[in-house]
Amino acid sequence: MPEKIGLLVGWEDSFPKAFIERVNREPGVVAELAKIGTTPADGFRSPYRVLVDRISHEIPHYRFHLKAAALAGTYVINDPFWWSADEKFFGYSLAAKIGLAVPRTVLLPQKDYIPAIDKQRSLRNLEFPLDWAAIEAYVGFPAVLKPADGGGWKDVSIVHDHAELMRAYDASGTKVMTFQEFIDFDNYIRCICIGRENILPIKYEPKHRCYVHTPGGFMSKELEGKVREGAFKLCDALGYDMNSVEFAVRDGVPYAIDFTNPAPDMARDSILEPHFHWCIEEMTKFVVRCVREGRTALGEHYRFSRYVPLAARSLERGYAEGIGGAVVVGGEK
Ligand SMILES: Nc1ncnc2c1ncn2[C@@H]1O[C@H](COP(=O)(O)OP(=O)(O)O)[C@@H](O)[C@H]1O
Ligand SMILES: [Mg+2]
Repeated sequence: MPEKIGLLVGWEDSFPKAFIERVNREPGVVAELAKIGTTPADGFRSPYRVLVDRISHEIPHYRFHLKAAALAGTYVINDPFWWSADEKFFGYSLAAKIGLAVPRTVLLPQKDYIPAIDKQRSLRNLEFPLDWAAIEAYVGFPAVLKPADGGGWKDVSIVHDHAELMRAYDASGTKVMTFQEFIDFDNYIRCICIGRENILPIKYEPKHRCYVHTPGGFMSKELEGKVREGAFKLCDALGYDMNSVEFAVRDGVPYAIDFTNPAPDMARDSILEPHFHWCIEEMTKFVVRCVREGRTALGEHYRFSRYVPLAARSLERGYAEGIGGAVVVGGEK
């Protein structure tokens, strides 16, 4: 029996079709749009060996299902547990910790709260008023005010002085915001990262919000080395198998700007044909590798991983031997 690869998507069109067709040319695996109905708590076993998730950030039911599927032994790309916990500000903190250049960034308390929060009684832990002069002196102007867990350029403002900052902050409502040094970049790079170590740096034009195809290359070997190393370190530290990592380059230094994108843009018209082709090939190789290695959430060392059934692995069903050796990902016998 071929091993099943399931794909979860929203309205995107080009990636799902091409990915499913391409995976279906590989021996021993079959890919399809995953079908998800109800999920029993007891005895659940997903029919999918690997699930590729590009939409559960919009559909909580899928996210919950995927966590149960991981417990049942399916390998989920990307890890639904970590994705649920992740946000941009943690990312900046982690990037700084692993030695990457990060714009000076501070996390701000929310401007507003849900109605159940009584500002006098419920917020006794909150420092108030904030020392805006000190915050602004640290970050400097111009600066960027953006959601600490945002995406798609929503609510991103460039501010040039205190008054503009206050206007943007007042408009941020209940969102948690970060206030960040603006990097006056001379180059902007988006890397598509698959399976953590496969990295495709692409020139990006933020002004026109588009990728650029540069067959002759667009950066020095030295800069490319730094970008590749930074992208790898970030995906590895975050544990994302499918991600995009953005760097703004100033004076030859790549600053990590936006790198928690577990459902990265993979639309053909947006990322352009040669990059799209690379994505389809690398995603295919990666899911096949996950099947061959018998990957489960076991490899991620969650406390619950001791309950992931070993029998869920393709390893036991002989597939791995069939396509050339298996790598055991640790764990119980
Ligand atoms: N610190 C920064 N310096 C310069 N430009 C920035 C900075 N932060 C964000 N931007 C610009 O705003 C865009 C959107 O911000 P980003 O952090 O990528 O959020 P999103 O997740 O919404 O894409 C970036 O592509 C970049 O052009
Ligand atoms: Mg971005």
